[in-house]
Amino acid sequence: MRKLAPGKLVIASHNTGKVREIGELLGPHGVEPVSAASLDLPEPEEVGANFVANAEIKALQAADLSGLPALADDSGLAVEALGGEPGIFSARWAGPGRDFGMAMRLVEEHLSRAPEEAGRDAHFCCALSLAWPDGRIESFEGRVDGVLVWPPRGDNGFGYDPMFLPVGGELTFGEMAPEAKHAISHRADAFRKLVAAVF
Ligand code: IMP
Repeated sequence: MRKLAPGKLVIASHNTGKVREIGELLGPHGVEPVSAASLDLPEPEEVGANFVANAEIKALQAADLSGLPALADDSGLAVEALGGEPGIFSARWAGPGRDFGMAMRLVEEHLSRAPEEAGRDAHFCCALSLAWPDGRIESFEGRVDGVLVWPPRGDNGFGYDPMFLPVGGELTFGEMAPEAKHAISHRADAFRKLVAAVF
């Protein structure tokens, strides 16, 4: 496993919230986050077949174009009864207007057509990939298991959070305080693995 030296790290995301959050998580390790937007890096097409493949496409392109190490993530909701859908298409199910009320209704509609014994289990996945300009890449996957509730509950979080009830919990991600979600989320799980491996 290659270690990450202190210094600049490109965060290969155009989402400013994500860039800030990653900067806060890795700052204590001597990482100086640089956003892809500040370098004018293009957003590559996410043509991979799974979360890791998409995260790797984004990290490799950013490292190659910037000449700096780069970190990318890809995440989504996988519903067991739907064969893992919406999966890598989680953002796309919300349409161009990013309407997650509609995306959740779509998931519920598909679930209502699946055989009842298929259940309502789902998990969130997060892949994190760290690439260097010489093409070396290390990837980490995190997940959190739960069941989908209907109707959605709570206004916290984003995306599919209001219909996701983590295993053993009583509150959906949409009802939980942000710190409580961040302690058990798929993203936190992937970051724990990355931090343990590369610092
Ligand atoms: P991307 O990884 O930024 O391409 O986004 C993946 C999509 O997955 C998001 O737009 C959300 O719909 C969904 N997603 C990923 N992580 C979460 C989460 O923690 N809560 C709710 N939805 C999520």
